[in-house]
Amino acid sequence: MTDEPETKGTSRRAFLRGTAAASAGLVAAATSVRAEGADPLITEIQPWAQGFGDGVDATPYGLPIKFESDVVRRNVSWLTADVISSINFTPIHALDGTITPQGCAFERHHSGAIELSKDDYRLMINGLVDTPLVFTYADLERFPRESHVYFLECAANTGMEWAGSQLNGSQFTHGMIHNMEYTGIPLRLLLEEAGVKPEGKWIFVEGADASSNGRSIPLEKALDDCLVAFKANGEALRKEHGYPVRLCVPGWEGNMWVKWLRRVEVTENAVESREETSKYTDTLENGTSRKWTWVMDAKSVITAPSPQAPITHGPGPLVITGLAWSGRGTISRVDVTVDGGKTWKTARLAPHSHDKALHRFYLDHLWDGSEMLIQSRAVDSTGYVQPTKTELRQVRGVNSVYHNNCIQTWWVKSTGEAENVEVS
Ligand code: MTE
Ligand code: CO
Repeated sequence: MTDEPETKGTSRRAFLRGTAAASAGLVAAATSVRAEGADPLITEIQPWAQGFGDGVDATPYGLPIKFESDVVRRNVSWLTADVISSINFTPIHALDGTITPQGCAFERHHSGAIELSKDDYRLMINGLVDTPLVFTYADLERFPRESHVYFLECAANTGMEWAGSQLNGSQFTHGMIHNMEYTGIPLRLLLEEAGVKPEGKWIFVEGADASSNGRSIPLEKALDDCLVAFKANGEALRKEHGYPVRLCVPGWEGNMWVKWLRRVEVTENAVESREETSKYTDTLENGTSRKWTWVMDAKSVITAPSPQAPITHGPGPLVITGLAWSGRGTISRVDVTVDGGKTWKTARLAPHSHDKALHRFYLDHLWDGSEMLIQSRAVDSTGYVQPTKTELRQVRGVNSVYHNNCIQTWWVKSTGEAENVEVS
């Protein structure tokens, strides 16, 4: 699936002139835009200027304009045997900035997205507490709340790429991720209200859906930055993201972010539920598995150019852009190569990045029109460097699923089209 660029091959297009090799030439080329002949879009009065547009009553709740109809979630048919227990992918190749609109943020359900009203909502805190409590939605609204931007990455993101490059597009290789501004109550406040007993060392969280998706979380994390969220990007959570309340477990694998959160039980030990034993454990090279790998390590991907976002112009200025993130903090640097890792350049990080949130990077590149092997490599605030696929395989083998944070390669051809490949 390729995004069909609107202006490709049409006479309306203004051409970029000059492909001067010097870096000063980059600026000159980018600013010396020249139309070829008379452009009717400029010289003639167009239909949209000859009448009226929509009134302010036309769209009480707005959707994207029809020209953007391909910026949508997509699934992969062979991964979707059953839509009730499946996954779709965020169109990261077509987005910019860092915030993911809820309407195209990937979904992962084990038993479908349920419809649970605020009136029917209850949150129980029980187990090793002084006072077991039940909160209604209205109760939750009276606790002091906070807003934070966090990424949620499914542990299975990039999980189909272990044995070889497979899916052709950043949406499919890296699109089990979204990044939103959540508003909610620190879980710590609710646990304090119930009073955690000294024996309490873990919590077990579950959702109101049939799967319940139960997970154990160490009490230390629960008291640190977990958020009981009811808003995302300023508005109510969408049904598919856990309306009316979900748990945010910043920097940790998406499976722990329980949707339709209904119960928090304080326990002495981990429950060792299905979701943390037969699933969400990591197969190693020697055939054994390791558990409790909660943190999402530093990772990055170039979102454009990429297979679904090919280059649609000739040689000259080219914006290479992508996303980087780390469950351990912020991103301190992203390096980009166009020659398969022989030489690297440090990309520009967009400002206003948050802890445990997506960061946007740009490399303003002067493309000579020849083919490229492009990669990005993230370094996080702990100094951790994103590994190559070879390095990761030495530890994890090729039969793993979860926590694949290797460096991704796109082979960009001289036509501008791109393909998912591996370099060794
Ligand atoms: N919570 C419940 N109750 N049920 C679920 O199926 N799926 C989990 C997690 N929380 C799930 C859940 C998984 S595996 C992931 S990756 C995230 O929710 C996905 O969140 P999203 O659908 O908002 O993207
Ligand atoms: Co998941």
